[in-house]
Amino acid sequence: MILTSLQQFNRQMQPAIDQTMQRVVLSHPLIHHYQGLKEMLSYHLGWDAASNRSEVQGKRIRPLLVLLTCAACNDHRWEVALPAAAAVELLHNFSLIHDDIEDRSPLRRGRETVWKKWGDALAINAGDALFSLAFQAIYLLQETCPEKIVLQSLHIMNNTCVQLTGGQHLDISYENERYIGLDDYWKMIEGKTAALISACTRLGALIGGAPDQQQHNLSEFGRSLGIAFQIQDDWLGIWGNAAQTGKSTESDLLAGKKSLPIVFALQKRGEFAERWLSGPIQPDEIEYLAGLLIEEGAQRHTEEQAEVYTRQALQSLENANLTNDAGEALHELALTLLKRSS
Ligand code: IPE
Ligand code: IPE
Ligand code: MG
Ligand code: MG
Repeated sequence: MILTSLQQFNRQMQPAIDQTMQRVVLSHPLIHHYQGLKEMLSYHLGWDAASNRSEVQGKRIRPLLVLLTCAACNDHRWEVALPAAAAVELLHNFSLIHDDIEDRSPLRRGRETVWKKWGDALAINAGDALFSLAFQAIYLLQETCPEKIVLQSLHIMNNTCVQLTGGQHLDISYENERYIGLDDYWKMIEGKTAALISACTRLGALIGGAPDQQQHNLSEFGRSLGIAFQIQDDWLGIWGNAAQTGKSTESDLLAGKKSLPIVFALQKRGEFAERWLSGPIQPDEIEYLAGLLIEEGAQRHTEEQAEVYTRQALQSLENANLTNDAGEALHELALTLLKRSS
């Protein structure tokens, strides 16, 4: 079997990412004092399961983006960026533990969420631990990078956290608004999702020693890719197969989440909007409403927008003028994410 560039890199990089994350979390010099916390973190990061680890660990696309971008800029010396790769994945997982509490989601990666298993208070605390460990990971960059790069990386991580929590603030606040417009939607997903994905490609470029303009293009690549990624997540949140996504496909409609199909249908002011604006959705209406959204063009619009932003991402990638096979793998990854079903 001939493997594509992306598959080859993925095979080499994923075990190294996992190893670095384990070093940061499980080998932290203080963690053995807190076995209960360690157990929760191991569960969420998928290190507890005897079978099918990859399903419970998530796709790990953010650390892959860091390493591929670095490899594309510094002629394959991606190992130097491993601490940053671990950092973004830990930060992502912090945000997921908190997001599941905020969204009252019972399922993630095909199993019970941390709050569902241990309760809100312990789950908030476990999220906080991952947040701190993400920054511990960045400090490890001192082993592979000059101090100036470490400081710049910390700055990127900090700003990303402000954007991510700002975006989550909007997402949660919008649940109580009957109507929001497309501008409100773009602002929300830019913060909650695109900021971190853009930070991944930016960190990879920075650590890979890319010149400023190239760093900028790669950061823009990540930003557009992150927007496309969230649009696809919105699609999956209504029409996805729960067995494949590992998440409930009812929660977005029930919780009044302003995902793109819904914002689009609200703007159309058709039958869906009329029903939506008249009061909370009941579980037995979900199937009908998901179909109504298709009839009113919301599914097609969502697919078109995911394509528009993927194309925009690929244009920024092209502007970055990468010349080796890691650049090809980034191109392939962007196209793969557009077609993902989990
Ligand atoms: C889920 O991210 C949250 C979003 C920003 C849409 P992923 O789909 O990358 O989640 P995992 O890590 O693969 O489970
Ligand atoms: C994604 O949130 C963004 C963050 C977790 C910061 P969502 O609520 O849209 O994502 P899922 O569908 O629960 O993974
Ligand atoms: Mg959620
Ligand atoms: Mg959410």
